[in-house]
Amino acid sequence: MKIAVLGGAGFIGSAFVRELNKRGIKPVVVDLLTYAGRVENLKGTDHEFIKADVRDQSIYEVLKEVDVVVNFAAETHVDRSIYKPQDFVTTNVLGVINVLEASRLFGFKYVHISTDEVYGEECADENSPLNPSSPYSAAKASADLFVKAYVRTYNVKAIIVRPSNNYGPRQFPEKFIPKAIIRTLLGLHVPVYGDGKQERDWIFVEDTARIIADLLERAEWKGEVYNIPGKQRVTNLDLLKLLGEVMGKEIKIKFVSDRPGHDRRYCMNTSLSYETTPLKEGLRRTYEWYVSNEWWWRPLIDDKFFKEDEPWK
Ligand SMILES: NC(=O)c1ccc[n+]([C@@H]2O[C@H](COP(=O)([O-])OP(=O)(O)OC[C@H]3O[C@@H](n4cnc5c(N)ncnc54)[C@H](O)[C@@H]3O)[C@@H](O)[C@H]2O)c1
Repeated sequence: MKIAVLGGAGFIGSAFVRELNKRGIKPVVVDLLTYAGRVENLKGTDHEFIKADVRDQSIYEVLKEVDVVVNFAAETHVDRSIYKPQDFVTTNVLGVINVLEASRLFGFKYVHISTDEVYGEECADENSPLNPSSPYSAAKASADLFVKAYVRTYNVKAIIVRPSNNYGPRQFPEKFIPKAIIRTLLGLHVPVYGDGKQERDWIFVEDTARIIADLLERAEWKGEVYNIPGKQRVTNLDLLKLLGEVMGKEIKIKFVSDRPGHDRRYCMNTSLSYETTPLKEGLRRTYEWYVSNEWWWRPLIDDKFFKEDEPWK
């Protein structure tokens, strides 16, 4: 089976490449290497690398040769989507349509990576309606609808996968958990949006990668949706409390104004059965990775979305 991993130099995509390698598969990685994509994330993996934009038809040269395409390529940070929504439409919607067109032409199976955020705040199963709140989740939800439309209209073989909040090694420091770890290591406060009682359902990135790889064997490719919740929902404040215990350090919290449109909760059920890494264990592994890999994060910490308390402004 020849597999292309789009966005494979990002956080979850590079974990997925590692998972494929464990299963004896050498994928081709297609990635534009935006601010979030880094070849360092693929260090030690076996892959072929092509630098290209999912919005561009040049990717068809690669896609015409493969059996399966797994698409992690996206703009992914909600705060950035509030600050400047346009890139979220071009990459997360038009980029997906470009890949769907290729699937229509060449017939590969398409794994569309979506998110729990498309459901909004209500607890959702795989058939629940979409109710996105941010420009990020609105773009993701739009792309999901195009996947369904391509299945119905053109018989494209596809599935939609909706993981909950991922955490683990190699996550860009603008995101909540690496930001909290790195800022605490540097002796800085951690900004908490609003009252900090928003609930998120955390899943360790290696679990997500394994569950998606398992899906390649069992999917029906009829446009069906697979939710991947972490089954460990906690408030942001409780998450920081647990992280402080794991780090053996006091986390200095600073309450700042709430992110506009901030969902109070994400909450999914799933039709799949699988085990997940306990949150405390996953946080310990994540913390140890950031402590041992300062070379990886040190050059990234000047970024506005790491430094400012309310970076969407
Ligand atoms: N991280 C999470 O908690 C989470 C949760 C649910 C779903 N998701 C989804 O999973 C996917 C991967 O998320 P992530 O956290 O690994 O993101 P990330 O930001 O770490 O990585 C995204 C990757 O996509 C690449 N990319 C961006 N625009 C591109 C373009 N136009 N052409 C080619 N490559 C491009 C980037 O260079 C980067 O390597 C996304 O679709 C995201 O919406 C993420």
